[in-house]
Amino acid sequence: MTLRDFPVASYSNPDKYRDWAGSRIESPESSSGQATRHTVYLPKVRDSDVTIENNDKKMNTKEFFQQQVQQLSSLMYPKEEAKHLVFWLLEHHHGISRKDLLMDRKLLKDTTPILESINALLEGKPIQYIIGKAPFYGREFIVDERVLIPRRETEELVYWICENHKDQAPSLLDIGTGSGCIPITIKLELPRAKVSGVDISEEALSVARQNADRLNAEVTFFFADALNWNLDLSTEVSVLVSNPPYVRVGEKSQMKTQVLDHEPGLALFVDDADPLVFYRAIANIGVEILKPNGLLYFEINEAFGSPIKVLLEELGYGDVKVRKDMQGRDRMVRATNIKRRDL
Ligand SMILES: C[S@@+](CC[C@H](N)C(=O)[O-])C[C@H]1O[C@@H](n2cnc3c(N)ncnc32)[C@H](O)[C@@H]1O
Repeated sequence: MTLRDFPVASYSNPDKYRDWAGSRIESPESSSGQATRHTVYLPKVRDSDVTIENNDKKMNTKEFFQQQVQQLSSLMYPKEEAKHLVFWLLEHHHGISRKDLLMDRKLLKDTTPILESINALLEGKPIQYIIGKAPFYGREFIVDERVLIPRRETEELVYWICENHKDQAPSLLDIGTGSGCIPITIKLELPRAKVSGVDISEEALSVARQNADRLNAEVTFFFADALNWNLDLSTEVSVLVSNPPYVRVGEKSQMKTQVLDHEPGLALFVDDADPLVFYRAIANIGVEILKPNGLLYFEINEAFGSPIKVLLEELGYGDVKVRKDMQGRDRMVRATNIKRRDL
């Protein structure tokens, strides 16, 4: 049985892989003052370790589950995450729920698709891209490498907006819409809302439109560049929301390779020299297009609660509130467009 190596990128600390049996580390010769990117090769699982020799042979699901969790956790993922991933794949490929697994009442037949998914996980591909969907606010969104995988913090932002505008009919624009998870969810939660989303990526817009169709949400999507705004909306909006790119390029070394190698850089990164570039640009757009007393909502990098508050106040916004997520980190901001009210 052959061993097929696969690379795992590690930016500064490949040492944690050195003791892994069969690992090999390649380091570049020169170092020009920049963080050195080493490539770590881990031995790929042998087919016999993961494949049931003959697909006609049925296998007990619990045994299979334990085998795969062991596989993922010994090579790459913390144990609890490995369990969660295998549960998720069993459900996706075989319709086997956690309850089925606990009762041990199903037998697996063709394990090829699920084993391919396990290998993709071991190559660092996020599970949401492997199965082509991600949960968000109780619904399933189509995702692939053209869009950011929707995050939990963003669900909290959407919850905050839905709570604040319950029983209202806001006109809402989402800037940097990606998969469309924010405007589509808001439209479905607040059916009387008039909702649109914009993005600079045509590829992301096509995923967003697909999601709106599948979920039966009446949302309009447009191309627009937040940093060079020339979209002519026929009416003002009462709510402007954005989860813009906010990760500093300098933070790359602390990020997981799953994110760096697979999620779109356009959705994530901003220049270290001006990390608030999108907040400033979008807040300025808000001054132009928000109704008097209209509300601006942002998802933010936890390091920037105070500077974003100052920025919004300088631009004439009032009632600026920084809100913590469930982990107690500053992750959301809301501000009122009082400048227009005073004009
Ligand atoms: C952090 S992602 C957010 C995606 C989605 N709203 C979510 O919360 O999952 C940022 C989005 O902004 C888009 N974007 C990046 N630069 C942009 C620009 N100059 N104008 C408009 N959108 C931009 C990216 O394509 C990406 O979809």
